[in-house]
Formats: sequence, C-alpha cells, structure tokens
Amino acid sequence: MADDLHQTAKALVAPNKGILAADESFPTIEKRFKSISIESTEENRRAYRDMLFTTQGLEEFISGVILFDETIRQSSSDGTPFPRLLESKGIIPGIKVDTGAKDLALFPEEKVTEGLDGLRGRCEEYVGLGARFTKWRAVITIGDDIPSDFCILANAHALARYAALSQEAGMVPIVEPEVLMDGDHRIERCYDATARTLTALFEQLDAHRVDIKGTLLKTNMVLSGKDAADRAGIEEVARQTVKVLGETVPDGLPGVVFLSGGQSDGEATAHLNAMNQIDHGAWELSFSYGRALQAPALSAWAGDAAKVDEGQKALYHRSRLNGAARTGSYDPRMETEAA
Ligand code: 13P
Repeated sequence: MADDLHQTAKALVAPNKGILAADESFPTIEKRFKSISIESTEENRRAYRDMLFTTQGLEEFISGVILFDETIRQSSSDGTPFPRLLESKGIIPGIKVDTGAKDLALFPEEKVTEGLDGLRGRCEEYVGLGARFTKWRAVITIGDDIPSDFCILANAHALARYAALSQEAGMVPIVEPEVLMDGDHRIERCYDATARTLTALFEQLDAHRVDIKGTLLKTNMVLSGKDAADRAGIEEVARQTVKVLGETVPDGLPGVVFLSGGQSDGEATAHLNAMNQIDHGAWELSFSYGRALQAPALSAWAGDAAKVDEGQKALYHRSRLNGAARTGSYDPRMETEAA
C-alpha cells in the first residue's frame, strides 16, 4: 500500500507533466460560465469537462486531473465514465474531498475548511469510482493582524486529519494551503504567512503519522498582493518561493504543485519556469493549475459545440507551455506559436 502511494505521488509529478485542476464547485463553475454567458446546467458542465478531457495528446503534459463530486460520476459523450476515460489515456483521476472554506467562528475575516465528517466513507466510495488521489484546500487570508496563529493551526490540523484518512484509503493526499493574493501587501507579508503556514502544516502531518513520500504539497507562490503598488517581478517571486520551500518542506516530499490563484496564465507559466531554472530542493516543482490552464480553453470553447476543437487546441497549447516550464525551457515567444 505504501509503495502504491509513493508510486502514484511520483507519477503525478513525472518529468514535463503537471496536474489539471478541474474540480470547481457549483458556485465557482457558475462564475466561470458567467464569463462566457452560459448557464451552469448539469449538461453544460458535463460537456465542458468532456471537451477538456478528450483533448488529444493531453497526456503528454498532464499527469492527473482533479475532479469534482459531480464530475467523477459523469461520462463522456460515448458513455465512458470520466475516470475510466482519463485512465485509458494514462492520466490519473483524483477528487476534491473538502466541502469548502467556511467562516472560522470568533475569528473575523478568517476561514477554516470543512469536510472531515463522514470522510472515511466518502473516500471508500471515491476509490470505488476510480480516484487515486485527493485534494483538500485551506484558505489563509492576509490582512490587519491576520493570519492568526490559531487559524493557521486549525487549518493545518484539518489538512493533516484529511491526509491521514486519504492515505488510509490508499489515495495520495494533495494538501493545499492557499495564502490568498488578495490585498495590497508587499511580498514580505506573503513570505511570512506562507512560512508560518507550511511550518505548521508539516508539524501536523508528522504528528498525524502521514507518510510524506506518499503526499504532495499544493501551495501558493510567494507573491506581492494583487493590488500592491510595486509588485515583485518574476525572478524575485521565483527566488522567494524557492527560499520559503527550502526552509519548510521536508526532503522526502516528492513534489510541490503550485496553484495559480488568480495569476494570469502567462504569469503562472513564467513563474514556474523561473523556479525550475534556479537551484531548488530535491522535490519536483510542478503545476496544478485551474484557471491558468483552463481560461483560454473556456473562452475559445464559449459553450459552442462547434468550437470544441478550438477549446482543445487552447488547452493543449497552455499545457505544453507549462510542460516546458517544468524544465525551465519555456520562452515567452512560445506564447504566440500556433497552438
Ligand atoms: P487555480 O489554479 O485557479 O488557483 O485553481 C487551483 C485549485 O485547484 C484551487 O483549489
């Protein structure tokens, strides 16, 4: 069992590949569909994910896909269940298992992620549906006097409890603490919040006996707030992110897969590329992007069955560029090459 977990974790961060996060909850996918003026119906959600997953050659750059509870139960137009379709392409199906970040009582402006109740049973069910890894997202907010130590601890504790249950069921946990980029703070504040969060997380994972070799970390890059006056450049973001990981992440972890968190698709690729060009720890530095992989595909598709091809070309192109960033061989000129 431990060997299987280690192998799956390694396969998810295989060379030149990363993860496609397609696990938007109902409110989030509704927001994304609004941007292209389509309604969030079950069939539209299925058709959109079908377009993404049937992209020819996707497996060249995508090792795994994170699904949402509805999606793992849906099928491609030819009737093949999505998890089976992905496996047949050599892509590992995964599942988001948290039930969302909720207000942390008595801690204004802070959140704690829910979903532990009944999680053992849900994990068993997801294994039956074909999932081989899981994801849980915690949200940490930067503001006046926050994040509090307690919010960081509460989220780290929940992440570790979740990770233990996921491993017990034989699925690799992707532990995702996201320090949000909302605000006008300087990059130092993000560094500090990220360092505190990751330190607490790895302490809790250790205390909960989670096998680090069968775990992946999904985290934010160290960035200036998105409304900051003077935002740190690409090299600075890469340096600070690699530094914080060096100070907090244990050597045994197979890899770190970044979220894009509202960066533009080009920025997310350039940052990952810059990190892979500098000396970093033993772990693979990869991607697990949602918006930064899907945004161009979503607008090219635009909910039109006649534009499936265009959506798929856009996804393939973005995946290829991020695949190149895995080895530091991305060049912004590749952006304009034919998809
Ligand atoms: P973004 O890359 O859009 O931040 O999404 C990744 C994700 O899975 C957030 O939980």
